[in-house]
Amino acid sequence: MDNDGSEKKILAVKDAHEGITRRGFLGTLSTGVAATILMMPTFSSALSKDKTWGSPVRPPDGSLSTEETFFAEFAKTFTIDPRDRYFAAAQKGSMPTPIMKRYKDGLDQVARDPFPVYLEPSAETREKIARCYGANTDEIAIARNTTDAVAMILSGIDWKPGDELLTSTMEYPNCVATMLRVATRFGVTIREFGVPMHPSATAEEVIESARRQIKPGKTKVIFFSAITQSNGQKIPPRRMAKLAQQYGLITVVDGAHYGGMFDPKLNDIGVDFWGISGHKWQCGPGGTGILYARNGHHSPNPAPLPRFHLVRSGQLDTPLDGSRPTGFDIGNALSIYGFPESADWRALGDVCELWDVIGRGRIQNYILALADYLRQRLIARFGDGCLLQPTKDPELKSGIVAFTPFVDQSQRRDFKLAVTFQDRMLKEHLFHVGMGGLDSRGLTRAPSLEATALFSGCIPNRNSVTNAPEPTDIPFRASTGVWLTRRDINVFVDACEETAKKLVMR
Ligand SMILES: Cc1ncc(COP(=O)(O)O)c(C=O)c1O
Repeated sequence: MDNDGSEKKILAVKDAHEGITRRGFLGTLSTGVAATILMMPTFSSALSKDKTWGSPVRPPDGSLSTEETFFAEFAKTFTIDPRDRYFAAAQKGSMPTPIMKRYKDGLDQVARDPFPVYLEPSAETREKIARCYGANTDEIAIARNTTDAVAMILSGIDWKPGDELLTSTMEYPNCVATMLRVATRFGVTIREFGVPMHPSATAEEVIESARRQIKPGKTKVIFFSAITQSNGQKIPPRRMAKLAQQYGLITVVDGAHYGGMFDPKLNDIGVDFWGISGHKWQCGPGGTGILYARNGHHSPNPAPLPRFHLVRSGQLDTPLDGSRPTGFDIGNALSIYGFPESADWRALGDVCELWDVIGRGRIQNYILALADYLRQRLIARFGDGCLLQPTKDPELKSGIVAFTPFVDQSQRRDFKLAVTFQDRMLKEHLFHVGMGGLDSRGLTRAPSLEATALFSGCIPNRNSVTNAPEPTDIPFRASTGVWLTRRDINVFVDACEETAKKLVMR
């Protein structure tokens, strides 16, 4: 959220309190979002009654119970099957009804008259996204998803043979695949740092683990997930950006779970490149994503802009050597690739604005508070050792909770049992539970000899001091999307207990 955005919200809150009409407030928003809210009768009335609305942070008395009332109203704008208390935002979000309606209208319009291609100029959509994500418009490109954005970024780095790419042990398989291709093609060595994931792990420990693996003069890039897929912990991007700058490294972040969950002030974080999903926590259409390329000297990162090659761009008048002349709009260049489905792009801009209207800080706090509630309930039911992620340091927590309901070490590492638990949770209780530590071909996997230390479903982690492979228990994952309440969480925990008990007592 930039200053301009905050100012708008403050005015909006003031207007609401001074009895100025809702329509007057809506006039301050772009027409798409204003129309969106007007089409949400229950929610817009909840908003106008809610004295804190537009507040960028949880209100002072904002206990979970206060916020639950507000978010329960918001939940009504999603069409998720009510029998399915959906705990899988980390896989795919759901579009709120008004966003979806305008999206469908857009598809109809394009089908009737395909020739113009763009329902909304892409510069306008990029400007909306940039405002919502705390970036400049020339730093934002519309991508197809995180996988696509990360592939464009890693393939566009100005690699030289012998360079090293430092990454965590927790990277998503699609991005591992890109890293392997880049490494082979450009003669780059991949080095991994282990991610401390025990309950009392601290951000400092994570940073020091990464620092130990930096080879000055050789390491060129650090690539990591802001929130890991395998156990949902944060690898704190601000601290990692600082670390990278101390050694003159380029930072590339997989932000699949960052957009829509956290309040993303990208220029303030100091990272060079982000790939962000539009369709997970941000709840835009499938096949939308955001590519951020720092394109200026922001105070948290005044380093010279890294040379960057455009892999996929139809723009002809761009430098071919990876340099960026003054005024070069890299976001635009990276957004020119054939004819997109413009209804997708416009819907992404709309839903980003909707998140800003609700308050990204408020969404973040609600998701995190629900996740903490889920952690407490799980510990109460399955004991202290049930969480497979840091639980103390707020810098390492997200809305993805990784746990195991099994107590016995052998059960916690039994892949067949894990698959059965996941299966039964879906068939008997309609819960989608994420499971397993990445793919069977992570970086610490075969053909690496170190892979012999690992078993199916574990996270192929490394010890943060010795860097030796350190397999973990098999994680189950639940994501606390904005449509959930504590009651849903209670039902979920009951289902976990019932399912685990049945399996263990067989
Ligand atoms: C950490 C992480 N990165 C990337 C992806 C791929 O996301 P996308 O569909 O946006 O490419 C996922 C998907 O779950 C993920 O968890």
